[in-house]
Amino acid sequence: MKLHDNHRTLFGLATALFVTLTLLVAIIPALNNQRNNAPLPGTRQLTSDEFAGKQLFIANGCVACHTQQVRKVAMDKGWGPRPSIAADYARNGRTDLWRNTATLMGTGRTGPDLTNVGNRQPSIEWHLLHLYNPRAVVADSVMPAYPWLFENKRLPGANDKVVSVPDAFTRGDGEIVATPEALQLVAYLQSLKQVALPDGTPTPEFLYQRPATGDSTPGDDAGGLIKLDGGALYTTYCQSCHQANGEGLKGAFPPLKGSPIVLDGNPARLIDIIMKGYDARVSEGYAIMPPIGTMSGLTAEEIQAIINHERSSWGNDAPAVPLDEVKKLLQTD
Ligand code: HEC
Ligand code: HEC
Repeated sequence: MKLHDNHRTLFGLATALFVTLTLLVAIIPALNNQRNNAPLPGTRQLTSDEFAGKQLFIANGCVACHTQQVRKVAMDKGWGPRPSIAADYARNGRTDLWRNTATLMGTGRTGPDLTNVGNRQPSIEWHLLHLYNPRAVVADSVMPAYPWLFENKRLPGANDKVVSVPDAFTRGDGEIVATPEALQLVAYLQSLKQVALPDGTPTPEFLYQRPATGDSTPGDDAGGLIKLDGGALYTTYCQSCHQANGEGLKGAFPPLKGSPIVLDGNPARLIDIIMKGYDARVSEGYAIMPPIGTMSGLTAEEIQAIINHERSSWGNDAPAVPLDEVKKLLQTD
């Protein structure tokens, strides 16, 4: 019998070959990949609201300007504590029956990377105001406003999330209320957090780092230590809410300029607010301040630099707080 004379043998053999090759080239490597890149412990499936928010993120084209990948290069260091790895994306599944997995890693970074924005910017109120009009919180922002995620209501109900928008940015009459879609989108943004790798997993290094210049220039009074820049730290950790001029935003974030808490001779309350957050002034219409210091892992040195910057800027004139005192107050907390 010759092989090509018998159509059953011929097709049978071709099918067997096809199945074997598919297994070897596609299916086994895919299973292997899934096993090696299982979802990381500490991550969870998106809730239904967060998932709806992800659809809104896609629908509104946010991916055009925002990446979700911390690349392995030093310039990406600010976007997350470590470079992203494949397992970070292991929970991404099909969008629905008809649509494939949406890849939101992005290719353009007109705005900041959002891999870790849930840790970096934890305030719902900030996000809502920012989506309503980015210029209300970041004066020079080029991000578009998303007013269709909000509605005007003369008499908001008890369950309505009213957004305190500074007068210069309001549109229409009545209060500005977040739609369920706006809240879902913010829930999705808040779910974006980079988790630490489990013990024993090698953490990829950031490449192309500039060699740390531990040596100091002669006459450097910091004694070899690079002096922390309180103004820069303020910009990173506090400015998004309290603003560059320290005046905050009426109705949302209180001013630090002239704040009795900032100027107090005893900085205990100030440090407490940074580490534990603050909600004592919610009845005055302010939002809740998240525990920024704890969430960002600020060190005593960084806190000292920030508070001394605040105590001496915008006309504030309180004496600098020594590092020992900051350390002592952090311990008694
Ligand atoms: C045209 C480009 C562009 C588009 C489209 C865009 N953004 Fe932005 N986004 C920016 C820029 C620029 C910034 C930095 C300035 C600022 O904070 O407003 C930013 C900042 C942000 C921040 C703050 C990040 C941080 O680290 O502080 C968030 C959150 C955000 N955008 C979410 C969104 C969402 C959600 C959408 C879609 C509804 C969106 N952006 C669409 C450009 C864009
Ligand atoms: C996400 C927005 C946000 C960020 C970021 C933020 N704050 Fe606040 N902060 C608030 C809000 C909102 C309040 C008012 C809380 C309330 O309702 O009681 C507040 C209140 C304060 C107060 C009390 C002011 C007063 O006179 O009552 C101080 C001090 C303060 N923040 C310091 C800081 C410092 C320092 C940082 C940076 C390390 C910081 N905040 C970062 C939102 C923020």
